[in-house]
Amino acid sequence: MATNSNFEKYKSNGSILGGLLEWVDARFPATALWRTHLSEYYAPKNFNFWYYFGSLALLVLVLQVATGIFLAMNYKPDASLNAVGVPVAFASLFYITHDVSWGWLIRNMHSTGASAFFIVVYLHMFRGMLYGSYRRPRELIWIFGVVIFLCLMAEAFMGYLLPWGQMSLWGAQVIVNLFGAIPLIGDPLSIWVRGDFVVGDATLNRFFAFHVAAIPLALIGLVVAHLLALHEVGSNNPDGVEIKEVKNEKGIPLDGIPFHPYYTVKDIVGVVVFLMLFSVVVFFMPEGGGYFLEYNNFFQADPMKTPSHIAPVWYFTPFYSMLRAMVWDLVLPAKFWGVVAMGGGVAILALLPWLDRSPAKSIRYRGPIFKTLLVIFVFCFLVLGYLGTKVPGFYLFGYQPATNPDGSIVFSPLNYLLSGDLIAQVFTGYYFLFFLTMPWWSKIDKCKPVPERVTWK
Ligand code: HEM
Repeated sequence: MATNSNFEKYKSNGSILGGLLEWVDARFPATALWRTHLSEYYAPKNFNFWYYFGSLALLVLVLQVATGIFLAMNYKPDASLNAVGVPVAFASLFYITHDVSWGWLIRNMHSTGASAFFIVVYLHMFRGMLYGSYRRPRELIWIFGVVIFLCLMAEAFMGYLLPWGQMSLWGAQVIVNLFGAIPLIGDPLSIWVRGDFVVGDATLNRFFAFHVAAIPLALIGLVVAHLLALHEVGSNNPDGVEIKEVKNEKGIPLDGIPFHPYYTVKDIVGVVVFLMLFSVVVFFMPEGGGYFLEYNNFFQADPMKTPSHIAPVWYFTPFYSMLRAMVWDLVLPAKFWGVVAMGGGVAILALLPWLDRSPAKSIRYRGPIFKTLLVIFVFCFLVLGYLGTKVPGFYLFGYQPATNPDGSIVFSPLNYLLSGDLIAQVFTGYYFLFFLTMPWWSKIDKCKPVPERVTWK
């Protein structure tokens, strides 16, 4: 390819930079890495809109690390009260926002980046479901992805404690208490996680250490593994056909094009559009309508004052709804089953490569059963997310159910139909059934014939 021969020409043109590159290459595989992963990595030529989100996830990861380093220069993980009775950690964020040069920008970028990360990653995962990117031979790419998703949740959860606002404290209190639901070891385990009997200074210090060092390191390592696995087997595409199966005499896939320069240029378009949207939020609405930064977190943490409504940030709410949907004490307390549902909701994703038995990978060639069930799945997931932001016992459309004199809800079909709790239970059931029954319905679905080559206009 032109880019590689340029490299060779460059090295032998007698210039200082050419000489330097030759010197480096004799000691480190710089040109070889560039070729393997960029200029001679042949990606399918039919990538579409959905293929922007992997590179955008990489961009947000870099943004979060870079802004995080600058925040850490002025942030103090200290829950003790300063001379005017404000927790030092909370005051240090106030200081960053109001006194540190450009501190407001760095902070807004980091908090908006957290939500942007989840938006991008959810869309990236959904693309995987649309085109069957988790199927053989890409199972490991997907499994690394699920572990990345878990780490991302841990990273966001621990980061949320750091401002030491009311939601930081009480959100962490509710979630860490969930460990208590595990039989026998639950209580000592939650004390061990907190480092205290309640969420306090010890918790803040260890969450800080995990948030700025341990989890980012794990995340970066996992993303490298994710990409190495991808480059080992090659990218999937919107047709779900393997481009490696049809190659020319030089061994280059006929439907592949070099990642660089073709997809680097395409990805730059995505980056520009993303940064425009990102800037609108950072500069004009950093609180994201109360979803990116919650109202209650602008108040300093107060262990003596429980907020009337404790809800996690939007990206956790579908799984939080699953937790709350479990209200039955079946042998073990309902809280235990809630934790099982919440953890199981993420863990079941890892089984997807083995649950899906369809002969076609891509939605383009899959049958009506998959398409219908997937639309319902997305609807259920979004509604679960919405319900997770509401108080328990919430009713749709502002409906007020009639109550008995003892305060219990009158039994009526309408009361059940409009009850958020019941909807959460039904939709949680659907979420799990979608996966658990997949081996059966994915096999009987009527797929269209899959072409041998990618379709491309
Ligand atoms: C920090 C988070 C992540 C980063 C930076 C990241 C990055 C990437 C990049 C750059 C690609 C190649 C470009 C593309 O196909 O869009 C990719 C592919 C892929 N990722 Fe991720 N990813 C992340 C999280 C995830 C998660 C959470 C999952 C799923 C649970 C996942 C599943 C996949 C799959 C299946 C592919 C192959 C797609 C295909 O070939 O069609 N990734 N990822």
